[in-house]
Amino acid sequence: MSNKPARGWKAEAPYNELPPLPPSAPLQTPAILKATIKARAALAELDRLAGKLPNPGILVRTLPLMEARCSSQIENIVTTDDMLFQRADQPDDSTLPEIREASRHAEALLEAYHGLKKLPVCSRLAQQVCSRIKDQPMSVRKLPGTVIASRRQVMYTPPVGEAVIRGLLANWEAYLHSEDDTDPLIRMAVAHYQFEAIHPFTDGNGRTGRILNSLYLTEAGLLEQPILYLSRYILANRSDYYRLLNAVTSHEAWEDWVVYILQGVAEVATWTAGKVREIHALVDTTQKLIAKKCPDLPLDDMMRAIFEQPYCRIRHLVVAGVAKRETASIYLVKLAKAGVLTEIKQGRDKLFLNHRLVALLTNPTDR
Ligand SMILES: Nc1ncnc2c1ncn2[C@@H]1O[C@H](COP(=O)(O)OP(=O)(O)O)[C@@H](O)[C@H]1O
Ligand SMILES: [Mg+2]
Repeated sequence: MSNKPARGWKAEAPYNELPPLPPSAPLQTPAILKATIKARAALAELDRLAGKLPNPGILVRTLPLMEARCSSQIENIVTTDDMLFQRADQPDDSTLPEIREASRHAEALLEAYHGLKKLPVCSRLAQQVCSRIKDQPMSVRKLPGTVIASRRQVMYTPPVGEAVIRGLLANWEAYLHSEDDTDPLIRMAVAHYQFEAIHPFTDGNGRTGRILNSLYLTEAGLLEQPILYLSRYILANRSDYYRLLNAVTSHEAWEDWVVYILQGVAEVATWTAGKVREIHALVDTTQKLIAKKCPDLPLDDMMRAIFEQPYCRIRHLVVAGVAKRETASIYLVKLAKAGVLTEIKQGRDKLFLNHRLVALLTNPTDR
């Protein structure tokens, strides 16, 4: 490694000398290229399997929420996945703040994803995403005072001055879309460091930066849907995340950082692909179970409804045009009696949980 101390960098002083991209360190090293090949293969397999699901919507309805939970948990905001699924589609005043926050977080991602053709990954999009996460208008920092600290010790002080920050963001944006032969995965890793080092907002930079990663991969055509679940890996390897971000600043340790992110991509893509395989199998057995135990139900419609999201409401069936309210309710109760779904009361509403699907997605043994 050619890790040299960054000239003039002090943790307590605003890092206005943050070097613009591309990094001066070589990015096509054997270790990086090897990790890139592995990550690309794992992602391609995930993308292929996800595209073959009869209800691809299930992934985009669950994974961004799980990603949101982990991403928030990196900074210690905690809830559980099944609580999330239950409440996130209809948050109200009684919903726990952390669930509302994860729900907003997933919505920010999906909204940006659907608008990518009009607004690609750029500083304006970052501002939009951060504002949605924080639930208040966020704009580039105008005042000094933002630091990254751990147990009261300052680890890093981002650049100050709106013009400096905007200049660095313009360079970051140009790098993301520059046309050279750098693999999009390497570019994503590099850009993620840079975004965090610029730290354009007073808060929400971590969550925003990790959403941008997911969006960038879909924009680059590596994933059809924004289902990269990288925060799962970052959360499990959190101290390395902080250490390696800091080592890029202090020692230009780009290789270690990029390899860390690429390993994460390979790991979460492989994990998610495994889940998608399990969903394929569950779709199969559930279909057989319904056909056997409830032959009078409209099989295809019911399958679509109960695999669209982990929790089905009577309203979902009505909106999908499967049946009127009363009949829809009878259908779901029948599935509950047959052991396909579990009925849960939620205030005056009823939820029908596809418990096998939830168990599969939230299996604690591999958290
Ligand atoms: N030494 C560092 N250098 C640059 N960025 C860092 C460093 N340590 C942590 N970070 C980034 O800063 C984020 C925290 O910033 P913050 O604005 O509070 O984001 P959020 O509110 O979304 O957690 C971390 O999640 C990480 O991405
Ligand atoms: Mg924060």
